Amino acid sequence: MLSYRHAFHAGNFADVFKHVLLAHLIGALRCKDKPFRVLDSHAGAGRYDLHSAPARKNREFMDGIGRLWRRSGLSPQLDEYLNRVRALNPDGVLRWYPGSPRIARDLLRPGDRLVLTELHPTDHASLRAEFAGDRQVAVHHADGYAALKAFLPPPARRGLVLLDPAYELRDEFDRLAEAVRLIHHRWAGGSVAVWYPILDRAPSLRFQRTLRESGIPGILCAELGLYPYDGPPGLHGCGMIIVNPPWRLDETLNRLLPELLRWLHVGDAGQTRLEWLVPAP
Ligand SMILES: C[S@@+](CC[C@H](N)C(=O)[O-])C[C@H]1O[C@@H](n2cnc3c(N)ncnc32)[C@H](O)[C@@H]1O
Repeated sequence: MLSYRHAFHAGNFADVFKHVLLAHLIGALRCKDKPFRVLDSHAGAGRYDLHSAPARKNREFMDGIGRLWRRSGLSPQLDEYLNRVRALNPDGVLRWYPGSPRIARDLLRPGDRLVLTELHPTDHASLRAEFAGDRQVAVHHADGYAALKAFLPPPARRGLVLLDPAYELRDEFDRLAEAVRLIHHRWAGGSVAVWYPILDRAPSLRFQRTLRESGIPGILCAELGLYPYDGPPGLHGCGMIIVNPPWRLDETLNRLLPELLRWLHVGDAGQTRLEWLVPAP
């Protein structure tokens, strides 16, 4: 199918939520000396031009990164992410937005590695150009789910898999549940982050039920809702499932989610949720 193009949505509130958490998860991996590996299975284009026609169509970035990027006095977790955005726009004009691969790459140390898979030919070509000649980054034109079998377990015992599909497939949540099981089976020491949209509430709640019953320990669920979940069709919010999260992530998110809501929400609506679906061992 592959009709989804992330360029239309880059930098929106859902990207901000996802990328703040991603930067924090990779920051936690940096706390120990041992090298780590990040696998981004649905990588997108790597970076996005917010002046391009797709980004300007609905200007979604204005309600996301546009609200945040000039603010000061933010928590270190928000600053860590915003510094990645600011580094791409040194002249003070918000034009370039880093996708998950760019954010992950900027946080690698010399011994760490990043593996990227992207199926859309145009986005894959952009990704390849973005990381041309970079020996710490491997870019593959491949199916992200198949890549899990091909690339896991990695030589590094520590690391993270980001699963961030386009949700074009009816059975996407089923595939994700299967993917989480497979990752746990092959790489129990690795962490997994699954981003999901909250449009119709039911599918993501079903997904969470499946994960609760999976027998996998340590599953945290974080959600940011900007619009009423029973409102007119649209992206009401989004969430992230984190399997095998770093120590005290729950405490950090307890502060960070309300902070994100404060900066990003419009009007009175808005909610956050933080819940262990399965407690950490
Ligand atoms: C939500 S976007 C990714 C955004 C990116 N992770 C970021 O945060 O910057 C989802 C991407 O998955 C790609 N995609 C769709 N199906 C795929 C598959 N089976 N394997 C790999 N990539 C796929 C789409 O082309 C799209 O670029």
